[in-house]
Amino acid sequence: MSNKYTATPSGSKVSIQTLHSKKVRGEAITFLTAYDFPTAVALDRSGIDGILVGDSLGMVVLGYENTLPVTMQDMLHHCRAVSRGVSRAHLVGDMPFMSYQASTADALRNAGSLLQKGGMDAVKLEGGRDRVNVIKAIIAAGIPVMGHLGLTPQSVHQLSGWKVQAKSPEAARTLIEDALILEDAGCYALVLESIPVEVAGLISKRLGIPVIGIGAGIECDGQILVTHDLLGLFDRFTPSFVKKYANLFAEMERAFGEYITDVNERRFPAAEHANIMDPQAFRSLMREISVLDEIIDSDENPPARYH
Ligand code: KIV
Repeated sequence: MSNKYTATPSGSKVSIQTLHSKKVRGEAITFLTAYDFPTAVALDRSGIDGILVGDSLGMVVLGYENTLPVTMQDMLHHCRAVSRGVSRAHLVGDMPFMSYQASTADALRNAGSLLQKGGMDAVKLEGGRDRVNVIKAIIAAGIPVMGHLGLTPQSVHQLSGWKVQAKSPEAARTLIEDALILEDAGCYALVLESIPVEVAGLISKRLGIPVIGIGAGIECDGQILVTHDLLGLFDRFTPSFVKKYANLFAEMERAFGEYITDVNERRFPAAEHANIMDPQAFRSLMREISVLDEIIDSDENPPARYH
């Protein structure tokens, strides 16, 4: 299935070039996150341009307080599940905390794994000028890199919490410089998270690469949300920039409650949910059972196996 906004109506794979062409034509780019097979299938069929297997999975799927505990093994596990469900959307795998910070060699190996073992088309990593050498090395290995600036969740402690970034002129200027540096380094796209709409607008206009916003306003070239937020599946906390398109957590609770009541009141399983034996087979089973019962009940010479 697709819709009138599908980037490749023919059903062919969305590439970096497709995303770039959408920016050039002024068409909005749509991204959402996925962490499992059924969500990936539904997103791919819906005509989404790109799917990010975000390290946000640490919070919305694995129940951690933040994204810091997420490992490469976690990422690969979920990337593989998502890639099995996708034939068309562009796939981006997030590089988790400490998979690219310690050394360029680590970063190269881990970025390579996300493509080679995880089935991703590109990787995303957080940070600006401090990450340029690593980003260049990954790109030189033929791996497309999406940048991520603004509120970078892996630096949550350094940022003293989940706060809107680049609100002062100085901080905004640093962010704009970082965005230009990342484009220069060869990033094919950039995520801007939780920054003022004006700053995101300036960056989107200045950069030739697609700028994908989350909590960064309408002027970005595209938008991304954490799918669990959009679906109302994560009930702990919803950022103010999220629009909830469903309330699936409440729907899950309702369905689970109904199931428990149905089982307790013997309404489930009903006849239509049961496997019925052929009546003739059942009659012959009953005959065999009554013969067995007679043997067991008889006092004389019970068969050895019933001793
Ligand atoms: O991990 C994630 O889901 C992300 C998005 C919020 C952009 O990085």
